[in-house]
Amino acid sequence: MSDSKVRFGLIGFGAWGKHHADAIAKNAGAELVAISARSDASIAEAREIYPNAGTYQDYRELLDRDDIDIVDVVVPSYLHHEIASAVLNSGKHLLLEKPMGISMEECDDLVRLAREKDRLLAVGHEFRLSSLWGKAKELIDEGFIGHPQYALVELSRNPYRLGADGWRYDISRVGNWILEEPIHFFDLARWYLSSCGEPVSVYAAANSRQPDHPELQDNFSAIIKFEDGGYALVSQTLSAFEHHCMAKITGTKGALWASWSGALDRTRHPSFSLRAFDGKEVKTIPIEKITGELFELEDQIGMLVEAITQGKPLACNAEDGRWSVAMCLAAQESVDTGRVVKFD
Ligand SMILES: NC(=O)c1ccc[n+]([C@@H]2O[C@H](COP(=O)([O-])OP(=O)(O)OC[C@H]3O[C@@H](n4cnc5c(N)ncnc54)[C@H](OP(=O)(O)O)[C@@H]3O)[C@@H](O)[C@H]2O)c1
Repeated sequence: MSDSKVRFGLIGFGAWGKHHADAIAKNAGAELVAISARSDASIAEAREIYPNAGTYQDYRELLDRDDIDIVDVVVPSYLHHEIASAVLNSGKHLLLEKPMGISMEECDDLVRLAREKDRLLAVGHEFRLSSLWGKAKELIDEGFIGHPQYALVELSRNPYRLGADGWRYDISRVGNWILEEPIHFFDLARWYLSSCGEPVSVYAAANSRQPDHPELQDNFSAIIKFEDGGYALVSQTLSAFEHHCMAKITGTKGALWASWSGALDRTRHPSFSLRAFDGKEVKTIPIEKITGELFELEDQIGMLVEAITQGKPLACNAEDGRWSVAMCLAAQESVDTGRVVKFD
């Protein structure tokens, strides 16, 4: 073990947690020193792949170790608040997967705790680290499209995975399905339209193709308005095939069109493009670095290593994570009531 490496503990070794483990192991500045999961099978698998890491069925034992700098939490969403608070209370930095919480009270509590303990709280909105979605943001901030006024962020994909013990299909444990994937698009929309001010209201509709589970909503669309009149549409269907995501952003001068497609969200062989119109001509903007959530996850670990060792800023902090949850919860309220929901 090298003293200069950032020592990571990982809690959750499921479908996404295993990718986190891989991303940590690949980073030359990081070391995966401990892993916690619940079942014997996951613990056995973690031991086999990472024989040098300590393994714990009780995450509290992992937190008792004093040789861990940061804990990466990748557990079902209903456990985020419990485990994330325990991490911060143990005095360690925190990378918490989205959603930051499944209620505003949970998010507020984590924001308070991170401040009180003076610890980093990064939230896993890895799209912000993408060469594609990030290039669109860079062009917007450079004024390429003038003042942004409109963003459409849309995803067509196959159904969600069940998750360990089927937690993702149990509304009391998942919170709602907007908190699963559309949360990334709310975050992107708010990021792209940051010069329009903060969100002021949302109106949303959703439906389900599961007659026994109307609360698990496969189709979802929302219009979110910002302070200066700019607005965004976030739309998703889980009733489609493969994984196809797109963002179209227009401004007072020009327009951007970014798209990403893969057989699955976790492919290492996606196709993607960015087309840009500055009001005069349409160009294809080269994206040199391959993009997709697996690549962004690696960059997210790199970002945390630099934040801890060099004090560099986080791409998505607690306040951003909190806003993303606020937008999702307000959108669900709008779906349920049929009304426009305003933000305080
Ligand atoms: N940012 C993104 O793009 C992205 C992508 C996917 C998922 N996520 C988020 O990541 C989280 C996990 O998703 P997933 O798909 O990996 O779920 P999953 O496949 O169900 O994995 C959950 C893991 O948590 C473990 N776990 C449950 N309770 C635990 C406890 N008390 N202590 C320690 N470990 C515990 C489970 O252990 P066992 O294996 O032993 O059951 C399992 O390993 C969710 O919040 C999801 O929203 C984010």
